[in-house]
Amino acid sequence: MAFDVTKIRKDFPILKRQVNERPLVYLDNAATSQTPQQVIGAIVDYYHNYNANIHRGVHTLSQEATDKYEQARIKIQQHFNAVKAYEIILTSGTTHSINIVANGFSSLVNKGDEVLVSAMEHHSNIVPWQMLCERTGAVLKVVPMSLEGELLMNEYDKLLSGRTKLVFCNHVSNALGTVNPIKEIIEKAHKVGAVVLVDGAQAAPHIKTNLQELDVDFYTVSAHKMCGPTGVGILYGKEELLNKLPPYQGGGEMIAEVTFEKTTYADLPHKFEAGTPNICGGIAFGAALDYMNNIGFDAIATYEHELLVYATERLLEIEGLKIYGTAKDKTAVISFNIEGLHPYDIGSILDKLGIAVRTGHHCTQPIMDFFKIPGTVRASFSFYNTLEEVDVLVEGVKRARAMLL
Ligand code: ALA
Repeated sequence: MAFDVTKIRKDFPILKRQVNERPLVYLDNAATSQTPQQVIGAIVDYYHNYNANIHRGVHTLSQEATDKYEQARIKIQQHFNAVKAYEIILTSGTTHSINIVANGFSSLVNKGDEVLVSAMEHHSNIVPWQMLCERTGAVLKVVPMSLEGELLMNEYDKLLSGRTKLVFCNHVSNALGTVNPIKEIIEKAHKVGAVVLVDGAQAAPHIKTNLQELDVDFYTVSAHKMCGPTGVGILYGKEELLNKLPPYQGGGEMIAEVTFEKTTYADLPHKFEAGTPNICGGIAFGAALDYMNNIGFDAIATYEHELLVYATERLLEIEGLKIYGTAKDKTAVISFNIEGLHPYDIGSILDKLGIAVRTGHHCTQPIMDFFKIPGTVRASFSFYNTLEEVDVLVEGVKRARAMLL
């Protein structure tokens, strides 16, 4: 059956709205995806019917909320194929997840150890590791990339050694859309005994990740990029590694026993879930996964690839337009500039035309430095975008060019 985008769009109330008296064309999905009625319904149901704190009340509402929250954890475990549900730590999102690991490794990394990070990381997968290196005396090394935005795997091979303790890489680059060869990256890192964290924030909305098949040590996801709400995400970690890490935050729910002399910590996942979590958010994340799985990740990937190919071809019709990130394996993210124009000016005119894109460095200043540019215009597509919206974007960019040049 053909991909029924018209039917899918009806699930997203926001897609009916106008912006600056034009139909909204939402192409900032890499920053935040939109939310279908099925997920909004789960949020409303929670607040209408069983809003209560979890894991601590004997009363019915608390029990219902606890059950739904833990069911969501199981849905997430099954979706990503983790071995155990308690290897899924519910966090506020990818940044929080990465910081749990970076903080935890402070006591497991020593002076002179090396940590490798790819040249195309988001700041949230650079800064926590720089902080780790400052605390421990470990050395941060960068795996370089090509002008196409692909990692130079022969350089990676040269950087790996017995000194390498940790490797960090995104699965998909938020600024360039490159899909990185993470299975190979993980296998090679494991051969030298290094632990690998993969930032999956930009992959999870487009690719059905199989954690066991990848054999990845840590993997992070944000719900708001895959039809869920903001403020919730996961840290997946292999059980033995999560058990080795100290807790990140102290507080309620993460303890086994507290006295003024000594506290012992709860088992996984609670050891890393101090305080009242985003209960409704976790449940809604589960609903978002149900929604996307109903459509099917293979169907989503095929359709989004069609959008990518068409948008790339059409944008390249525009004189002076250059695309940054031309890797062979890409998700539907197109970062571009037009010679002589500032990305911010293009983005502002597109907004006047109802078209939402992101402009700037996309929290990836090292990538912008590599290309010697201040930023880009980034159009990032989702399965609810259409070929007609690509045409609107192209006409918008042409108009911006005519107005600004
Ligand atoms: N990391 C998000 C983006 O790429 C916010 O836009």
